[in-house]
Amino acid sequence: MPKTENCSRDAKIQGTAQLVYKDIKVDLDVVEGTEGELGIDICQLRKNTGMITLDPGYANTGSTISTITFIDGEKGILRHRGIPIEELAEKSRFIEVSYLILFGKLPTKAELDKFSALLAEHAALHSNLEHHFSGFPNDAPPMAILSAMLNAVSCYHKEFLDIVLDEEGFMEATARIMSKVRTIAAYTYRKARGKPFIHPNPSLRYCANFLHMMFSEPYKEYELLPEIEKALNLFFILHADHEQNCSTSTVRMVGSSRANLFSSVSAGVCALWGPLHGGANKMVIEMLESIHSQGKTAQEYLEMAKDKTKGIKLMGFGHRVYKNFDPRAKIIKKQVDKVLKVLNLDDHLLHIAMELEEQALADDYFVSRKLYPNVDFYSGILLRAIGIPLDMFTVMFAIGRMPGWIANWKELLDHNQRISRPRQIYNGPTLRSYVPIEERE
Ligand code: SDX
Repeated sequence: MPKTENCSRDAKIQGTAQLVYKDIKVDLDVVEGTEGELGIDICQLRKNTGMITLDPGYANTGSTISTITFIDGEKGILRHRGIPIEELAEKSRFIEVSYLILFGKLPTKAELDKFSALLAEHAALHSNLEHHFSGFPNDAPPMAILSAMLNAVSCYHKEFLDIVLDEEGFMEATARIMSKVRTIAAYTYRKARGKPFIHPNPSLRYCANFLHMMFSEPYKEYELLPEIEKALNLFFILHADHEQNCSTSTVRMVGSSRANLFSSVSAGVCALWGPLHGGANKMVIEMLESIHSQGKTAQEYLEMAKDKTKGIKLMGFGHRVYKNFDPRAKIIKKQVDKVLKVLNLDDHLLHIAMELEEQALADDYFVSRKLYPNVDFYSGILLRAIGIPLDMFTVMFAIGRMPGWIANWKELLDHNQRISRPRQIYNGPTLRSYVPIEERE
């Protein structure tokens, strides 16, 4: 019986599965990851059987073997390089977590200082690039500007367009993208409001520098509260990576053609923009505001979200992988309470969100479908408390996810993974001839 050749790298082979169809019988290797996940290796299936698998949306398909992030959706577990998100959220900072995700280990002090110094050094944009912002209308969608500007930045760093970057080159390219993504975001925000650009201050740490570029004025420095800097670090940590989600898979798809890092993450921005993915944090706030403005009760809205004919969802609820609580939602919810207390703010949308959550978790429609709050359900309220405007919410998600996208792009190349090119099942018209226009009905 022909065996499929194992292409699952160094994952453990845990026996075989047998595929039987008519007179076809083939053994398929079963691979097991370090957390006991099992996958059937089908990389030689078509060669040995002439058949392919079909899985639109890839809910049952593993696209790679990865060592970066592990999620257990049933148990609500999220770990980066083995370290639980709860510990990282409590003890670490975004740049340290980024280093862990990018380079596979927590940095020594010297390594962290070197990486931080690179980020501080490369925050500024080439002065020509500042003129690009005047080419966008004031109401241009920030995610459109972000994806465009990430590619524009690469024109000034052609030395990094070569995809075969050595370790040093990879760190240099990574530092430029992770640092400048903040500057692009801040300039986008200020340009839309007719405000002058505030240049980065290399003496400030990553989050403080971003808030400085966003909210300082030419003659008045932004007054940074430690709780706000901590809340922003936490927001970015909780968005840093998340296995093969839609945008990360997009970065891998583009990177698999050996496109450069800048264009690959720019594609990731475009995928993240979608309302079912990174656009959800903005839509949660819009949902809460509409419930408030229309004087709807939480129950009335839930009834609408359950009625398929209405075409609306309970935004911020549900997840392809988490069939239990998204651990990030729990962490953010706690942080929101803290930040609002420190700022002596009382956000009426928080009360609506908490009522929606309480009622949804007691409603069989949501419970039977294992729909729980995801990272987006409370993150918008945290961003509001920090002072980030609604149109910048998904941009904030992109800044947080940047280390995850870059790490996955690098892992794909380190594995020398072949170009991604899925197959399909054709179900259109069978063979027929061209009909001259005068003979057509
Ligand atoms: C992110 O992949 C990641 O890791 C993403 C992310 C990351 O960090 O990268 O975690 C970030 O994108 C979080 C998700 C943000 N999106 C939203 O909050 C939008 C609202 N959620 C849904 O659109 C939905 O839950 C998804 C997109 C998140 C998941 O979609 P799936 O896995 O394709 O689930 P599904 O659409 O097949 O839903 C199964 C059932 C359906 O009902 P039935 O056909 O069984 O009757 O649940 C229903 C759906 O209609 N359902 C919802 C719902 N989510 C699913 N019904 C009402 N409200 C919802 N939010």
